[in-house]
Amino acid sequence: MKPVIICVDDENLILDSIKMVLKENFGDGYSIETAESGDDALELIEELIRDGIEIPILISDYVMPGIKGDEFLILAHSMIPETLKIMLTGQADLRGVENVINHATLYRFLSKPWTTEDFVLTIGEALKSFGQARQIRIQNRELEISENKYKELVENSFDIIFYLDREERIRTINQSINRILRYKPKSLIGKKFSELIYITDWMNEKIVQEKMLELIHNKEPVSFNCDMVTAAGEPKEMLIRLQYLPASEGLIIVGTASSIEDDLLIRLCEKETQVYKIENYMTQIDMVCKRISNAITKYGSPEDVFLIKLCIMELLVNAMEHGNLDISFDEKSEALDNNDYYKLLFKRQQNPNYKNKRITVEFSLDSEKVEIRISDEGKGFDHKKQMSKVDKEGVDLKLAHGRGIQMAKSFFHTFEYNDMGNSVYLIRNFNVELSG
Ligand SMILES: Nc1ncnc2c1ncn2[C@@H]1O[C@H](COP(=O)(O)OP(=O)(O)OP(=O)(O)O)[C@@H](O)[C@H]1O
Ligand SMILES: [Mg+2]
Repeated sequence: MKPVIICVDDENLILDSIKMVLKENFGDGYSIETAESGDDALELIEELIRDGIEIPILISDYVMPGIKGDEFLILAHSMIPETLKIMLTGQADLRGVENVINHATLYRFLSKPWTTEDFVLTIGEALKSFGQARQIRIQNRELEISENKYKELVENSFDIIFYLDREERIRTINQSINRILRYKPKSLIGKKFSELIYITDWMNEKIVQEKMLELIHNKEPVSFNCDMVTAAGEPKEMLIRLQYLPASEGLIIVGTASSIEDDLLIRLCEKETQVYKIENYMTQIDMVCKRISNAITKYGSPEDVFLIKLCIMELLVNAMEHGNLDISFDEKSEALDNNDYYKLLFKRQQNPNYKNKRITVEFSLDSEKVEIRISDEGKGFDHKKQMSKVDKEGVDLKLAHGRGIQMAKSFFHTFEYNDMGNSVYLIRNFNVELSG
């Protein structure tokens, strides 16, 4: 049903002529309805409202028997506030006009006699501005709906949802942070995101740094597993997703953190052999370490689990940084000194010469032992020299690194490099004391 333009006038002649002009000019898109009095018109309006028909324009004469034009328009306004009202005045009765302007937001008044041209122009403009106003109303309503929906989504989400500014400070964070990590959301506003990370485990810090850099550089969403810290200071493993926002009001990152459920099936597994091929990222190394150490909880003591995780982490990081990414001992020392180790890592990770190199992890577990082989696609190193150097001279305590191999070697029952030095084979027997 077309929208309706209503004309109200007690003089039939005028009503007919208006109707004709309107039909001729706007008949394609609108129906024209007429009424001879305000009362009739109010009834008509009621009907149209009931049928859900839109009324963009209401034209009314001023002088009419029964209710006058101004009174009528004010009454009509309370029923159809969005309709544009036009009043026709024979004599210049400004009081009536004023009355409607004050109470019914009169769109225009036309004083008789008017030219057809003027009339058509006025109605044309009115229809246009009604259309624009309606468009804005629709947009506002949609916006409101989506804002409410969004607010509800955010507040009722199972995930922690937060916004960070340029300095990685928390600007907003939802209630889930209270449920999952036990902080009051308000208490975190203005804090650095890194304060929510469990940094006692150096790996977490590395992962977050690596991912933040990747995000800021590539502007592509990143996601990773990492321990966050509860209000009580305990680690809680979470899946974190960060997404870059084109800077709106200083917010640049929106993130979510979701709880990770324990893999229950892993406890039922008696024996397993697995092969992982991973890219040169801390996050992937961390995932594999976690997966392997979770599996080991079935047979190993808590100490075994902890040390195996730590040692394979060291060796996987070696495979990544020294093997696939070809970062030498000296380059690492220098970068650590200058505090830009993560930048160096990041550059190498993006470099096409290293980017496609993978780390292969072969892992096999039964009740007796765990066997692990870690191989990279780098050029290897003189492991005999490196190991005898450490055996003879001990670890250089002035350097912040150089102890990964030393630690791993002392913990595994078998610790062997291939000739080239880009693959290391490890066995840890359970329930067996290490000799020596
Ligand atoms: N997979 C590998 N490929 C090439 N070189 C390696 C590899 N693994 C170890 N290296 C060499 O052996 C050195 C000693 O490794 P180690 O893990 O003991 O110390 P680091 O990696 O230098 O420091 P950190 O104590 O932080 O691990 C490395 O600096 C590197 O030169
Ligand atoms: Mg190392």
